This record gives sequence, structure tokens and C-alpha cells, in this order.
Amino acid sequence: MNDKLIIFDTTLRDGEQSPGASMTRDEKVRIAKALEKMKVDVIEAGFPIASQGDFESVQAVASTIKDSTVCGLARAVDADIDRAGEALIGAHSARIHTFIATSPIHMREKLRMTPVEVVERAVQAVQRARRYTDNIEFSPEDAGRSELDFLCRVIEAVIDAGATTVNIPDTVGYNLPHQFGELIKNLIERIPNSDKAVFSVHCHNDLGLAVGNSLAAVLNGARQVECTLNGLGERAGNAALEEVVMAVKTRRDLFSCDIRLDTTHIVSCSRLVSRITGFTVQPNKAIVGANAFAHESGIHQDGVLKKRETYEIMRAQDVGWTENRMVLGKHSGRNAFRTRLKELDVDFSSEEELNAAFARFKELADRKHEIYDDDLQALVTDAGTQLVQERLKLVSLKVCSETGEKPEARITLSVDGKEVQANAVGGGPVDATYKAIEKIVKSQSDLQLYSVNAITHGTDSQGDVTVRVEQGGSIVNGQGADPDIVIASAKAYLNALDKLMVPMDREHPQI
Ligand code: KIV
Ligand code: ZN
Repeated sequence: MNDKLIIFDTTLRDGEQSPGASMTRDEKVRIAKALEKMKVDVIEAGFPIASQGDFESVQAVASTIKDSTVCGLARAVDADIDRAGEALIGAHSARIHTFIATSPIHMREKLRMTPVEVVERAVQAVQRARRYTDNIEFSPEDAGRSELDFLCRVIEAVIDAGATTVNIPDTVGYNLPHQFGELIKNLIERIPNSDKAVFSVHCHNDLGLAVGNSLAAVLNGARQVECTLNGLGERAGNAALEEVVMAVKTRRDLFSCDIRLDTTHIVSCSRLVSRITGFTVQPNKAIVGANAFAHESGIHQDGVLKKRETYEIMRAQDVGWTENRMVLGKHSGRNAFRTRLKELDVDFSSEEELNAAFARFKELADRKHEIYDDDLQALVTDAGTQLVQERLKLVSLKVCSETGEKPEARITLSVDGKEVQANAVGGGPVDATYKAIEKIVKSQSDLQLYSVNAITHGTDSQGDVTVRVEQGGSIVNGQGADPDIVIASAKAYLNALDKLMVPMDREHPQI
């Protein structure tokens, strides 16, 4: 019988540490539900001590998710562990993940602690976490640059104290695959009680080796991989979940491990994360990039038509790529709408959410003749945000754009139910619109990112706009889709400003 390889997703924690990828509590719950549906084994939902917002997000995920273990991160200090334990109280299955750095440079320069103190603190942290759950993960941070003998000492001590998973992070992405694989092998062989814990790995991608290092670790005995969708994460990111999972599944001849994850949900999860965070996926990204399964060259196309396996090592449908079908039109009913979205992996959490999305669908169908799957996906992301977006609403927008003239926008917004109007000129129609919005909202925020993409092909495609806005240290993303890209831009900006208006603690959760 094969060993089980545990897939631990940290999109909501390490992924969110990527500057600008912050998510609201509701967005985290939506992603967590998609991860649960994909059968991810463990979902790291956040770092509860980092902020009230993070605490509430972990709490919300913990009380929603039933089929995956929900994990909260804590430094090896009592207050962090207690906060994580408290956030996880409602969880069906809870794990506390505690960590302390073990590399000479981190202990000396960052912690200013001696190795003896670090071992003591690690043991105390695991013991304290056991007050809340028996499922304890311990990470020696910067293990990839720690001394082997010391690592063995710390790990043996934390396993004795009750750690059930020992996670080896290559925190700064410094290791090479053969070296990292060897490290895992040595640890498992040398630590006398290593059979009492699952060995896990957590690799960063600074040298582009996060997936390679993770796979080398699995070949050498690691039985949990920590990863994120689309490889989101600090700096160059973490190991990409979709790449790790598909490598292990595709190369069963080398990996004697079973993975519970249902790969057919990978593409929809990847898109959800990309839309919510505003981090677009490059077209040539493995597995989830738009071109990942596209054969452009004649020789390839000919080969694939004769026998798919000549050029394809995986089937696009196995990771959830479906044809972008033209599915619905203005006469389609609510049932057809709900059914197609279910096929696309979208479940509505309430009738209210379904109704909001259906109303938007009808509105779109009046303006756009053919509605594709991708239009539906964008529409439901917007409908989800619309339910929480109560304070700012776009009522109407008129923009004049003429050669040789400065574009002018006149906008009417509903602010807390009261209509307010403003005019502004700008360098372009979007600039004029944003200036008019700012005259009303007076957010004094800084627009850090503005990006627009076509959702489908053709000039009648909806424009899909993502913005990232910063205000007093809080960073939020906003999305908007519409066949008129200026209106899509206004919606995205309002979506972001609305999030900033909700009084919540959205500090960037740094360790
Ligand atoms: O990269 C890292 O070391 C981490 C730890 C908290 C596991 O994210
Ligand atoms: Zn990390």
C-alpha cells in the first residue's frame, strides 16, 4: 500500500503575505470552501495574532470547513498560541502550527537567543499548543540554513513534547533539490523518534526551485507538502500546489504516494484565487496558465490529433479545464444558470447570493449576446462581493472622450443609500472617472495597481478590471467586470474603496 501524501495549503496564510494579496474574511471563506471541495487535507487559514481581521478570518474558516483540517499559525510564544487556539475553537478538526527560527543567523541576529533557549522555547510552545489540540505542527524556521546536528536536537525534543508534524521550511529559498532531499533523508534517519511524526516541507521559490525541492523531499520521505495555489506567497512565492500535485500524480512511477486531492477542481480554484487577490496567472504557467495545454505548432497539433500522448503528459480535463462554452443567453432561466455554475464548481451559499448573481446575469445578457463560462465566473465573483458591498454603489456614469479634448466623467454614486454626483476631467476616461469617484469618497488612498483584461475573445468581451488600493497601511483589491471597460474600472475601484470603508483591521500580516 502506498503512503499518503498530505497536501497542506497555505494560500490564505503565506499566500496572503505576498504584498498586495490581502483578502477579506469573506474572500478567505470562499477560497477555503473551494479548497475543501478540492479535498485539500489541511488549510492554513491565517496567523490569528497578526490582527483582529486575521483572527476573525481563521475563526470564520474554522467554523465553516468540515472536511479539511483547519490550521492557525503561531510563533513559539504563549500569546500567539492562545490566540490561535481561541480562533480554532469551532473547528471540526484543528491544528496549531508553531514555529521558531533555528538557523545561526536568525537565532543570533533576529531572535537574540542562544540555541539552548531556542530548544526550550520550542518545547514549551508545543506543550502549550497541546492544551488546545493534539494535532500540533512545529517548524524550525530557516531550516534550510540550519545546522544538521542542531536541527536533529530541536526536532527530537519537539516530537517528545507532542508535535505530530515536523515541517522543514526552506524559508529563504536557498536550497537545491539534491541537497534538500538529502537533508530530509538525514533528518528521518538520524532522529531516533522520527517515526512518531509526519515530516513535511515548506519551500520558497527565490531560486525558482520550490516545487523541485518539495518533490526531492517527497522522494526522500517527506509525507506532507506545504504549498499555495498559483505559487502565491512571500517574495517569489511558495511551491505551487497544482505543480506538486500533478507531478506526483503524473509520475506515479517514481512517487509511491497517494494524494486525496480532486485535481478536477484545480483550474477553478486557481481562477478564484487569482481574481480575489488580483495576481494574474501568466499564460505559460504550468497546469493553470491559459496556454498550458494549447498546441500551437503544426507538428504538435498533428501529433496530438493522431495520438494525444505524443505531446501531452496530462489531460486538460483532469485539472479542470473545460471548453469555454457559449452556454446561456438572455432567455435562459434561473435553473439553467444555477446548473451551469454548479458544473463550473460554483455553489451559492444562499438563495440571496444566487438571486444577486442571476439579476446580474440578466442585466449582462441584455447587453452581451453570448455569455461564456468565463463571463459567468466573473459575474459570480462580483455577485459575491456585491452582497457585502453595501455602502458604495454605482448608480450611473457618463464619460465623454473626444480626440483633442480632455475626457470628462460625470458619476452618480449611492453612498449609504444617498445619491451623490460629481464631475471630473482626467488624462483618460478611467482617470476622469476615478477622480470623480475620489471627489465623492475622499478616500485619499493610493492606487497601486490597475489592470484590465478581456474575459473572452471578441470586441464585445467583458473587460475584467482589478485594482489594488492602499490607505494608511491597509491594502485591498477590487474587481469589476463589464462589457464597458470604463464602467468595469469604476466597479473595481468602488469595490476596493468599499472594502476600505468597512472598519476592519487589515494590516499586512507579517511574521
Ligand atoms: O517560510 C517559512 O519559514 C514559514 C514558516 C512560518 C513555516 O512560512
Ligand atoms: Zn513560508
